[in-house]
Amino acid sequence: MDKLLIEGGVRLKGEIAISGAKNAALPLLCAALLTAEPVSFTNVPQLNDIRTLLRLLADMGVKVAHEGSTVTLDASALTNPVASYELVKTMRASILVLGPMLARFGEAKVSLPGGCAIGARPVDQHIKGLQAMGAEVSVDHGYVLAKSPRLKGVRLFTDMVTVTGTENLMMAACLADGTTVIENAAREPEVVDLANCLIAMGAQISGAGTDVIRIRGVERLHGTTHRIMPDRIETGTYLCAAAATGGDVRLLDTSSAYLDAVVDKLMDAGCDIVSERNAIHIKGPQRLKAVSLRTSPYPAFPTDMQAQFMAINCVAEGTAIIRETIFENRYMHAVELQRLGADIKIDGNTAFVTGVAKLQGAAVMATDLRASASLVIAGLVAEGETLVDRIYHLDRGYEKLEEKLAVLGARVRRTN
Ligand code: EPZ
Repeated sequence: MDKLLIEGGVRLKGEIAISGAKNAALPLLCAALLTAEPVSFTNVPQLNDIRTLLRLLADMGVKVAHEGSTVTLDASALTNPVASYELVKTMRASILVLGPMLARFGEAKVSLPGGCAIGARPVDQHIKGLQAMGAEVSVDHGYVLAKSPRLKGVRLFTDMVTVTGTENLMMAACLADGTTVIENAAREPEVVDLANCLIAMGAQISGAGTDVIRIRGVERLHGTTHRIMPDRIETGTYLCAAAATGGDVRLLDTSSAYLDAVVDKLMDAGCDIVSERNAIHIKGPQRLKAVSLRTSPYPAFPTDMQAQFMAINCVAEGTAIIRETIFENRYMHAVELQRLGADIKIDGNTAFVTGVAKLQGAAVMATDLRASASLVIAGLVAEGETLVDRIYHLDRGYEKLEEKLAVLGARVRRTN
């Protein structure tokens, strides 16, 4: 099992390019199921989650051409409308094939995604929405079975803001008979990126990016070429690494446009941040000031940046109060950070982090994607060596992580 060996104490300096967004690419690749024509995507990040989804789509009969960061999908002749447990269990976002498959082929069989380290993560809102659109949906032996000769446009209201729930229902509604209105919709930028691609494919969508999305169903969609938006969470992760090490870093092919809440917090912590048209330049202070936060749906502070901010608060001046309101178990990085000498107290969904002058390098274990990123950030500032185990979690969501860190001067290498 690969590990990451980090020698702490280096101020990160230089510039790196940010990759395409994992959480935009995953629904976008599934959108190709909605048309019989080829769909091409550029700026696709080279990540294990993407490779897993492409394998799943190929298993279903989609023709996949993958050249560097360009992927072309041709779903003209599906042979097997089943998303198997073997693949879905490793990547829960596979549930995103459900809506498009049901809308295009009238049936779908998708393994229920298990929970994952950060929470139960049920998909009841996805199922409730499709049933409201007239689908017959049952759960049998761990699989979601859905059938519908043609979905109907209806008014939908999700019980909570759900990103992939909104994306699944929006894709299903593109080919429904009539107009669908999704209220309480997720406003994440990745939802907007998906809507823009669907519109380019001929879908009639308005309101993406607000909490009310209207989709007027059409007979069919056609092919297009779409560039995946930059990854705002990868961007935020490197901003935190630069902030924590007192570095001077420029991130290219990205923007602060979708990161206001994160940039505000980093400026409160004492960082200098200059937003350019297609880049962000950050300078970290000698020592960060503690910043409290509360995770919430976009445009508020993203839950996917909570672990990284816990790491930077471990060495900041003062005490930070962190409240995780989206997932029920997203503090597993805390015990690992404590092994590095962090002063963290957890009380329910609240974490109290009191900065210490120095963290000590140690062996730690990654438990989920963003938790692993927080351990890497802590290792970059800890004294001595930190060995992060189970970094397959990192490989799911960060392209060429150690190469990019090495370009910024970090002493980091992969071992197994
Ligand atoms: C998406 O997950 C992201 N993944 C997650 O990123 C992100 O943390 C999350 O949104 C919140 O922003 C992708 O986009 C592929 P939700 P998703 O449905 O859609 C509950 C990462 O690190 N819920 O918005 O699965 C759910 O349990 C990953 O890149 C239901 O109860 O999250 C959670 O408490 C981690 N029933 C809350 O809603 C449902 O049917 C928000 O979940 C759906 C969701």
